[in-house]
Amino acid sequence: MAVLAIRTLPDPVLRQKAKRVKSIDKSIYKLINDMVETMHSASGVGLAAPQVGVPLRVIVIGMPEEEELALINPQIVRRTGERLVNEGCLSIPGYFAPVQRAEVVRVKGLDRTGKEIRLRADELLAQALEHEIDHINGVLYVDHLESMDELQPVEPASNEPMA
Ligand code: NI
Repeated sequence: MAVLAIRTLPDPVLRQKAKRVKSIDKSIYKLINDMVETMHSASGVGLAAPQVGVPLRVIVIGMPEEEELALINPQIVRRTGERLVNEGCLSIPGYFAPVQRAEVVRVKGLDRTGKEIRLRADELLAQALEHEIDHINGVLYVDHLESMDELQPVEPASNEPMA
């Protein structure tokens, strides 16, 4: 496994719509393993393949105290409710902002073995899934803000989730 460089704005790979994975092979296993290591190394709660320069629809999620989740070709099937949550992005270092997110999301995608999985998520997991699935569509959390004035600098001991 390897820690990969995390791309930051204005890297154009972050604005591309990532391509679907057609076959899950060794290169995808390696990508997932490297993304998991990179996410932990950056203390993130999630990471999308475009953030490491790979324009494919692959995301990893790392909730505290839980085994990492990798999803291939994930999509949001349904969003329910609304809430405002603080959020930051490893590709936009140093800032966070309150973002409007769903209360509950239902997501489907493939696991590393190619099996379809469906999950219902709330709280931090729902937020991370929305954030990462935005990434593979070339969308960043700042796109959901009315103004860049809503961005706040991250304080040294702050606890805002980064993904
Ligand atoms: Ni991000």
